[in-house]
Amino acid sequence: MIYSQISQYYNKWSSGNKYYVASGKFYIEEALKHNSTIVELGVGTGRIAREILKKSMNKVIGVDNCEEMLKQTEKQIKKEYADRLMLLKQDFRELKLPFKCEYIYMPFRTFGHLENNEDRTRTLKAVKKNLLSGGVFIFDHYVLDQGWAQKVSNEQVLMYEDSDIRITDEYSFDFNNKKMHCIVRCNDVIFESFEFYWFDVKSIFKIIKEVGFKVKNLYGDFNRSEYTNKSVNQIWVLEN
Ligand SMILES: C[S@@+](CC[C@H](N)C(=O)[O-])C[C@H]1O[C@@H](n2cnc3c(N)ncnc32)[C@H](O)[C@@H]1O
Repeated sequence: MIYSQISQYYNKWSSGNKYYVASGKFYIEEALKHNSTIVELGVGTGRIAREILKKSMNKVIGVDNCEEMLKQTEKQIKKEYADRLMLLKQDFRELKLPFKCEYIYMPFRTFGHLENNEDRTRTLKAVKKNLLSGGVFIFDHYVLDQGWAQKVSNEQVLMYEDSDIRITDEYSFDFNNKKMHCIVRCNDVIFESFEFYWFDVKSIFKIIKEVGFKVKNLYGDFNRSEYTNKSVNQIWVLEN
């Protein structure tokens, strides 16, 4: 299972991503607009859920299919917020919440783990089924920067370094199939090796419409600027 081995270093590793802080800030602000039980799909180590629990009285349901990531959330925040945090080990393509909710969000490119349009459709349908009427679903992804991709292709990109650990990513791109392979190394030992996928705005918009969501907003950045053909992010705010 992807993330099993890197789970202990997940926060350090992903802090090397340029949008780590901005994405967290955005999802925390969005969550604070709600006053109910909200749901994070791909909750990971709970880095965003923790801040939401700290800053609001919301209850959070965190869904993830990786046991080790959920264990990190248990270790890092569950005790502190036992009465307001529920963790579910589930594949979000088959999401089944105990009750329908008004707000579901999937932060930080997690949608990029979905391999093809069939899985993207399945996931959006599952989310829709678990949302109250009028409820909101937000997810984000990047828009691939081909120049950047060509520059870093097959190089070791430094993600994090301290006196104990050095974490690097190595990407190889299959531009035709909108897919990349990522190898994560900790102190030169391979910890993770997985495929990751991207898509263009037009193709995902088609699926969103087919599934029956309304598009409330499409942002081009976590500062909520409108999406343009120069944007490097696509942040979809959908309404059921
Ligand atoms: C990029 S991390 C995001 C973690 C966290 N939301 C954050 O912002 O730091 C993606 C998370 O999604 C989980 N994940 C990926 N595919 C999944 C699936 N099909 N069902 C449930 N969780 C999944 C992974 O295990 C991982 O914890």
